[in-house]
Amino acid sequence: MTRRVVVSGGGTGIGRAVARRFAAEGDEVVILGRRLEILEEATAELNVEVGGDLVTFRQADLTDPDNTADAAGAISASGAVDVLVNNAGGATSWEAGSLAEVADDWLAAFRTNVLTAVLLTEALLPALRRPGGRIIAMSSVAAVRGAGSYGAAKAALHAWVYTLAASLGAEGVTVNAVAPGFIPDTEFWKGRRSPEVVEPRVASTLVKRPGTPEEVAEAVAYLASAQAGFTTGQILQVNGGSVLGRG
Ligand SMILES: NC(=O)c1ccc[n+]([C@@H]2O[C@H](COP(=O)([O-])OP(=O)(O)OC[C@H]3O[C@@H](n4cnc5c(N)ncnc54)[C@H](OP(=O)(O)O)[C@@H]3O)[C@@H](O)[C@H]2O)c1
Repeated sequence: MTRRVVVSGGGTGIGRAVARRFAAEGDEVVILGRRLEILEEATAELNVEVGGDLVTFRQADLTDPDNTADAAGAISASGAVDVLVNNAGGATSWEAGSLAEVADDWLAAFRTNVLTAVLLTEALLPALRRPGGRIIAMSSVAAVRGAGSYGAAKAALHAWVYTLAASLGAEGVTVNAVAPGFIPDTEFWKGRRSPEVVEPRVASTLVKRPGTPEEVAEAVAYLASAQAGFTTGQILQVNGGSVLGRG
């Protein structure tokens, strides 16, 4: 059965691999993001890659309630949503000086990683298929290892996942998160792929290599499957074993 899948941040990196994974199965996929040219290019390329017109896009800043409501309204008008992948996010600032900068950094991290997921989910909840709907959030190994405002924001996603899983479980909807480790082939790491950055992160994994967007997409695909209906309120770690903290 063809599903309708929504992937925030689907124009780049992990989200793009997730969009491709679903479309390759014949699902209709709507990708969301702020940059129009990125969305147009990704949509065209993904449709060529999967050999069909399965991918469409909506431009929206998902930290903005009105933008999000408009995008969700347009998506909902075309029918039920089977799978919602709240993938949009990212690190905002690695260093902050003044107290005002600290405040800006923490608020930006929360808006980018938590608010984007909460607003889009709230806006699409009425359209979510019941029973059978799937909500998946993109967390990070940073939520358990720590990484300033970014790690704290991702950890906040976990509490939200637990709450949502509890409230939607009886309606046959599952809510989970995937928590990737080091995935360098993304805009997240653009301009920061020096040996000093890459080597310790690879060394901290048990498999001694970075992960790929496609490996994260496989985890998302599993949680979105009909076979995963008994898995809810969980955080699936996809980090090459790095969270065990052994070199
Ligand atoms: N790469 C890693 O090693 C890694 C590890 C753990 C977790 N993650 C998580 O994986 C997810 C995907 O990141 P990525 O690594 O694939 O990096 P990425 O290529 O930078 O993807 C982030 C995507 O989110 C979109 N986005 C950001 N803010 C948005 C907003 N306010 N509204 C709408 N869309 C927004 C971006 O598009 P626009 O800028 O055009 O809006 C972009 O397409 C993120 O949640 C990230 O935190 C990544």
